[in-house]
Amino acid sequence: MAERPEAPAVSIRPAVAAELARLRALAAASKGYWGYEAELVASWAAGLDPFARPGWAVFAAECGGLLSGWMALAAPRDGTCVLEQLWVDPALIRGSGVGSALYRYACTRALLLGATCLECESDPNAIGFYERMGAKTSGERRSEWGRMLPVMRLALAPPARDPAAPGEHRRDRDGRR
Ligand SMILES: CC(C)(COP(=O)(O)OP(=O)(O)OC[C@H]1O[C@@H](n2cnc3c(N)ncnc32)[C@H](O)[C@@H]1OP(=O)(O)O)[C@@H](O)C(=O)NCCC(=O)NCCS
Repeated sequence: MAERPEAPAVSIRPAVAAELARLRALAAASKGYWGYEAELVASWAAGLDPFARPGWAVFAAECGGLLSGWMALAAPRDGTCVLEQLWVDPALIRGSGVGSALYRYACTRALLLGATCLECESDPNAIGFYERMGAKTSGERRSEWGRMLPVMRLALAPPARDPAAPGEHRRDRDGRR
């Protein structure tokens, strides 16, 4: 039987401030995926500046050599790291593993920073993703758009065995890693 081609590997690296315009555009396209009003999304994205936020580390995901997603992780407070931003190129949503690669990388970074929990506010449409990642709803919080959003919380545990190469995540079309 012919072998299925693998989806391109996702690699993760620190993002740099010179990429801010691309990160904003990607965030706007990604949030817009859920059908929110375009003007509202555009004005929200124009105000995003993750590099200006104290304690935030910003990471970019590349898939097939293209910027495909990004996330921002805040430094831990009281043992909890907050995943402040997580955006995937709409063309790659639910297919290339970019979101899960970024989320797992956030877990690894948070552990390295000494955190025992990873937390984030979830868009209502993304709850299933965070649950798939193992997180559970731990409450709700008012968002910058005035909506009550679920807070998704994951207890972090060090990996039981050596992980694959850092920042490298690969899976085939059936989602096997
Ligand atoms: C939420 C988001 C980051 C997920 O990224 P993604 O690249 O699509 O996720 P993956 O393909 O890595 O999915 C990992 C698993 O979660 C599942 N999943 C992904 N999105 C899901 C959703 N919205 N509901 C339920 N399950 C979901 C996938 O099917 C996959 O399951 P599998 O391991 O059984 O195959 C992406 O959909 C996105 O950027 N959405 C728009 C912006 C957004 O909502 N960002 C989050 C703000 S809180």
